[in-house]
Amino acid sequence: MRLAVYPGSFDPITFGHLDVIERAGRLFDRLVVAVLVNTRKSPSMPAEDRAHIIREAIDEELGSSGAAIEVIVFEGLTVDLARQRGAMAIVRGLRALSDFENELAIAHLNRKLAPEVDTVFFMTGVEHAYLSSGLVREIAAFDGDISAMVPAAAARGLRRAATLPGA
Ligand code: PNS
Repeated sequence: MRLAVYPGSFDPITFGHLDVIERAGRLFDRLVVAVLVNTRKSPSMPAEDRAHIIREAIDEELGSSGAAIEVIVFEGLTVDLARQRGAMAIVRGLRALSDFENELAIAHLNRKLAPEVDTVFFMTGVEHAYLSSGLVREIAAFDGDISAMVPAAAARGLRRAATLPGA
């Protein structure tokens, strides 16, 4: 059983994330998409809501090919999750050169903490190379059209969060 974990903030999931999920889902027998805490960011909605949106997006956009993909919320280190689940790899997406330095640091530190777990990078599809959750949130905050950037489930989630602030 080749299992991988894909950690991230997913605030919210974009088509770039979904592209990585779909491709990683094909490469591994099982993929655990994990909403984790990034201490350098303050999230716009609770982790459980972000995980719920990811599950909806996978079901709606990937259909039966999403069956071996699990979505969870995890509090702690990515490597602890990887070890708990017996994962052989951590999956991350790379959009542009600007992602590289940060991702390199995380991958090296994770490898120091858990040498048996490798990080596997997916080049995000070129059509999603300039997409980020932060920019999507900014466009959504001003009622811009985000339908080409995020799955419908994420657009619905952002609308819900805007109408029920703090909920
Ligand atoms: O989507 P993001 O915000 O780029 O994801 C970053 C994330 C959540 C994967 C990273 O902050 C993380 O791994 N957080 C969990 C805590 C951890 O393991 N930190 C060590 C990284 S060296």
